[in-house]
Amino acid sequence: MDILSVVRSECLGLSSYVAGRPISTIKRELGLSSVIKLASNENPLGSSLAAISAIRENLRDTYLYPDADGYELKNAISVKYGISRENIFLGAGGDEIIDMVAKLFFNSNDEVVVSKHTFVQYKRAIQLMGSKMVAVDMSSDFVHDLDSMSKFCNKNTKAIFITNPNNPTGTYNTKAELDRFLKNLPVNKFGIKPIVILDEAYFEYAVDNEDYPDGLSFLKENPNLIVLRTFSKIYGLAGLRVGYGFASKEVVDFINRVRLPFNVNAVAQVAASAAIFDTEHVLKSCRLVREEKEYLYSEFDSAKITYLKSASNFILCQTLPLSGKEVFLGLIRDGIITRSVEEYDLQFWLRVTIGKHEENEFFIKKFRNILKK
Ligand SMILES: Cc1ncc(COP(=O)(O)O)c(C=O)c1O
Repeated sequence: MDILSVVRSECLGLSSYVAGRPISTIKRELGLSSVIKLASNENPLGSSLAAISAIRENLRDTYLYPDADGYELKNAISVKYGISRENIFLGAGGDEIIDMVAKLFFNSNDEVVVSKHTFVQYKRAIQLMGSKMVAVDMSSDFVHDLDSMSKFCNKNTKAIFITNPNNPTGTYNTKAELDRFLKNLPVNKFGIKPIVILDEAYFEYAVDNEDYPDGLSFLKENPNLIVLRTFSKIYGLAGLRVGYGFASKEVVDFINRVRLPFNVNAVAQVAASAAIFDTEHVLKSCRLVREEKEYLYSEFDSAKITYLKSASNFILCQTLPLSGKEVFLGLIRDGIITRSVEEYDLQFWLRVTIGKHEENEFFIKKFRNILKK
């Protein structure tokens, strides 16, 4: 059977997503008893205890379908951020939100603007819909060059992805930059400004920076804006797959038409509803990242390792003269899973998630060994 003749042409060029490698896989493959994962920007402190107890209390109800509308969770988000439920939508993680937005808006003749070194899921979603991806160089300090991205917009530009802070660079665009960008975007052939998907997966880690913009504050003035957030990162619920977003009432209505009816499972809904109010867990997680970031920066400095200052819970560091992949493989042999970023077009860099102090200490020791620094 020639399966290639029936697969949609848009799917032929897709490759499977390369996820951060699971701890259990590395233990099994290398026969290691202890492995640490600093690969997928998870929270090393784990889930909020409030979420865990909500999960326990609700486990008996898993024979029932989830609330398809996510009433309680939307309420919780609405209370937390002071925004109407009509402007909130839910997804099975930010990944599904990216997918839903693509399904809703992207046609085969559309152009979608992204940065050259940004989250790979955008590229996959654009490819799947057969749209054209326009990848724009970042500035020399690895920040999204919003002015340049704006200049690459033409009549065919349907949408733009902005990740703030960006993955994998950890850099962010300021409030003033985002404001100017949103105001100056040119109108496309559909008679509107392109849809801007502002991905704030790492919002909670960045919000302490005075000039970091809260995407939500731009929503009223910009009906073309969609803000994406997730419970996978600071809330420590990556395994449950739950994310959310803010958009105009009209866009939310259409997202609800394309999403699967029960996209966010029942356990995820109760866990997220509890986690969002666990401010202590959020503050503790931020504090750990802030302190450990300083520790890693000073270690990188003393080893003369180049790195980018991050507004997030990971750091991108240079691996020269070795490739990121070589260092990644070396660290795996030591039982440390990090993330090489060649699929982000960064051959000589490695992304490391900030872990607990003893994990970071172990990482830096092995990293220096491999680089002989
Ligand atoms: C920038 C960015 N957006 C979205 C996501 C998706 O996260 P999730 O699907 O777990 O919510 C990630 C995950 O790594 C990310 O880094």
